[in-house]
Parts: sequence; C-alpha cells; structure tokens
Amino acid sequence: MDRYAVFGNPVGHSKSPLIHSWFAKQTAQALSYEAILAPVDGFADSWFSFVAAGGRGGNVTVPFKEQAYQLAEQLSERALQAGAVNTLYIDKSGVLCGDNTDGLGLVADLTRLGAQLQDASILVLGAGGACRGVVGPLLVAGVKHIHIANRTAAKAEAIAALFDGRVTASGYEQVPAEKWSLVINATSSGLDQQRPPLAEQHLKHCTLAYDMLYGKEPTAFLIWCQQQGVPQCADGLGMLVSQAAESFAIWRGVKPDVTPVLHQLTAMVK
Ligand code: ATR
Repeated sequence: MDRYAVFGNPVGHSKSPLIHSWFAKQTAQALSYEAILAPVDGFADSWFSFVAAGGRGGNVTVPFKEQAYQLAEQLSERALQAGAVNTLYIDKSGVLCGDNTDGLGLVADLTRLGAQLQDASILVLGAGGACRGVVGPLLVAGVKHIHIANRTAAKAEAIAALFDGRVTASGYEQVPAEKWSLVINATSSGLDQQRPPLAEQHLKHCTLAYDMLYGKEPTAFLIWCQQQGVPQCADGLGMLVSQAAESFAIWRGVKPDVTPVLHQLTAMVK
C-alpha cells in the first residue's frame, strides 16, 4: 500500500491523517497516511527514512515548511511565491518536488462560501508565512487589489515587493480607505484570544470575514467582525480540508469531494 504522512513538531493534533483516510475511502484509493513527529533539527533525516521505507509523498506543517522548501529539488511557482512547501512528492524520474497548496485551499474555500474574487479588493491582516502562502493564488483567482496590513509594516512591505502593483502594504493605522469586500485574518493573534488592531471603518463594505485559524470557538477577530455587522464570518477549517484535497490530487491524480469531509470534521471539531 502506498504510504503518505504529515511531518510536524508537534504533530499529534494534526487532522490530516483523518482527512486523508476519509479522502482515500471516498475515492477508493489504497493508501495509508500517518503523522510523523520529526525532531526540530531532523526534518530531512525523517523524510529520507520515510522514503527509504516506501513513503510516496508528504505534507509538511509547522515548523518544517521552510526546511521542506530547501530540501525540494524542484519547486512549483506557488511554492516559490510562498517561500514554503506543504506538499512533497517524488515524480516519475525520481526528483523530489515541493508544492504549496495552502493558497489554493483558501481560494477553494472562499469560493465554496460564495465569495466573489474576480476584481475584488481584499484586506489581508498579518505578514507571516500564512499571508505569504496565499497572495499568489488570490491574484491568480482574479483579485484586483490585495492590501497587507501588519503590526510590523516592514514585513508586509517585504511580501508586497515580491508581487506586482496589485499588492500594497502598510501598518494598521495606514490602511487605505477602500471598499474591502473580504477581510482575511492571517495573523496568529487568535491563538492568544486577541485580534489585529484594525479600525472598524474598514469593515463597512465587508461581506465575508475569514480567519485562517480554526477551533471549537470563533476567534476574537470573527467575534468582533460579527459584532460590527459583517454578514458572513468563517474560520479556516474549510481551508484545511481544501488544501488537503489539493495535495491528495497532486499525489493521486484524483480530486476528492471536500463537502462531506468538511461536514464530518466540523461535527468532530465543533
Ligand atoms: P505564520 O507563519 O502562522 O503566519 P508568523 O510568521 O509567526 O506565523 O507570523 C505571525 C503573524 O501574526 C505576524 O504577522 C504577526 O505580526 P508581527 O509581524 O507584527 O509580529 C501577527 N500577529 C501575532 N499576534 C498578533 C496580534 N496580537 N495582533 C496583531 N498581529 C499579530
């Protein structure tokens, strides 16, 4: 049976083994998928031992996405733009390839939620790896303008500089007045029950607020958006399942149906 795995540290909390086992069942693919706890300084060794034992592909999560980027012999354009790899596989000629499906997963989930991306003006909060991974795929989806706001403005400006004039950046105080139809929280503030210091006026035209984090309870950002009257608020559980579906499709050549798996996972997590 073909083996796949997610590599992380910690990794015990990962929902990926469950998601991929549901995908495998749904698509009648014979495969196994496990979670591998790699030592913080030993990702490459863990990967190569896995491959030596028959591993065909892997997902990579915190803190190894940049190390996987270094390890891959061939990178997709998405991985290059993201500066990080979340999907590894060995192609027919034996080359270790790195891709990044996080942004595709976000675009798929926004589309599932009915968001209009073509010609949209989008505000992305935060300028860490989570932000960098999604900017390219949002542009490919037809977004007109992405503004990245971050406490440390220089980090947002550094990401904007990787793209063309459709991507701008600033601190929270300098966010331009524009009709932001979609506001995406890509900060880790929700882990501390906090929200980014965005002025409420920027939510006036927002029809969907999205937090890339997920959990049992809504994040402080989503609670605040609801209080401000944003009509639709969503967390990142759908993005998690959608990025997994994109990885599965890269490995197996068949794209699973996200909806039933998301329903099953929601029933477990919420
Ligand atoms: P990730 O890879 O998940 O994006 P990261 O690289 O550590 O994680 O980045 C975390 C992001 O969340 C950063 O943009 C950080 O802002 P700074 O760059 O200014 O530090 C942002 N962040 C974390 N806690 C925050 C908070 N309470 N309010 C606003 N932004 C926060």
